[in-house]
Amino acid sequence: MIDFNNPTFVADPYEQLKELRDIGKPVWHDAMQVFLAARHSDANDVFRNKSLGRIFIDKKPDFEWETFNWLHSDSILDSEPPKHTRLRSLVAKAFNRNKIEGMRPAVERITQQLLDTIDEKTKSGLNFDLIADYAEPLPVKIIADLLGFPESEEHLLRPWSQSIVKMYEVNPSIQYQLEAKKAASEFAEYVRDLAEYRKTNPGQDLITDLAMVEENGEKLNSHELVATCVLLLNAGHEASVNAFGNGMVAALKRPEQIALLRENPRGVTDTALEEFMRFDAPLHLFERTATVDTEVGGVKIEKGQKIAALIGSANRDATVFENPDEMDLTRDPNPHIGFGAGIHFCLGAPLARLEMSVSLPALWEKYPTMALASEPIRRPTFVLRGYESVAISV
Ligand code: HEM
Repeated sequence: MIDFNNPTFVADPYEQLKELRDIGKPVWHDAMQVFLAARHSDANDVFRNKSLGRIFIDKKPDFEWETFNWLHSDSILDSEPPKHTRLRSLVAKAFNRNKIEGMRPAVERITQQLLDTIDEKTKSGLNFDLIADYAEPLPVKIIADLLGFPESEEHLLRPWSQSIVKMYEVNPSIQYQLEAKKAASEFAEYVRDLAEYRKTNPGQDLITDLAMVEENGEKLNSHELVATCVLLLNAGHEASVNAFGNGMVAALKRPEQIALLRENPRGVTDTALEEFMRFDAPLHLFERTATVDTEVGGVKIEKGQKIAALIGSANRDATVFENPDEMDLTRDPNPHIGFGAGIHFCLGAPLARLEMSVSLPALWEKYPTMALASEPIRRPTFVLRGYESVAISV
């Protein structure tokens, strides 16, 4: 059975994921004590099946993990109705399509600032790093701005977030655990203080809005407020960085896809960003727990048993996608499930799409001859799949 931590698997998981799909039904992974839903139809069912819930089980039920635990159990992502409905409805209107479209000028402005900084490097004959100089700062700055997280402290976000999300990997190491515990406490304390400050110094931001809801003593308690803000700050950039990085690296390795982006970047942007999401998924595995006996793909899942939707595998399913192992930036339709499905469907999908739809053509218009300067360096993780650094020459 697949070893999700094996470096060879992490380097290229797609052949083994295909073998898993070929079994034709969800398969029990004994070491992980979870069913794996690798086919598109099964993974989609996992997201939509109402008998399968996102049930957060405390990582370790001791006090050192207390903050990490409630940061999850009191967040939108790790709760189920009616709590999920209440929490999601409090922030959903901030993320609707119209509100997000209103952020386009800010996304364009920040994109331009990043390109100007990159230009200084390239004019001195230096390469730039696609991740650190472009893919990462854009979503970090946008989500920080939306929530009202101080610009001067933005550098804190990525390290905190990275430390927390490494706990989502299969069997996180002791080192990862220590870092996650520490980051969770620091992040929660910072956001708690910020929310308190906003109650007396309100801004035009989401933390202020949520702090006011909490202040009025309805609908949102103190842990839920902090957990929601931390989730939004993390989810608001982690996958976006990797969707852009993974897609760009794959495209830059394929001359015919480079030609499409070079010749008419705006013409292919809409389909290209969906193919970025499909081809080398930034998020691979999400678990659910059966709240009653149920069934997925003909396999019985007993109450209490877990099943994982394998997104990156589903997105390569030949029964849904023609030539699934080929990247095609003009692919349309493209029913990938990169943003999930069902009640937990990604709240930030319109924002992620807006960011990519601005940043992708802007980069190609500026540097039509850009190329990989060396082999990109991957992060050694499977669940959140992405690159550490990607050197680009122009
Ligand atoms: C390319 C970028 C992104 C990808 C691939 C992505 C993917 C996903 C997926 C697969 C889920 C569902 C998880 C599950 O069902 O277990 C999800 C949920 C979520 N995402 Fe995203 N996401 C992205 C960007 C964003 C952004 C920019 C935000 C902005 C705040 C965001 C906020 C959320 C939230 C709050 C949830 C939880 C929704 C709920 O539980 O109801 N995401 N995302």
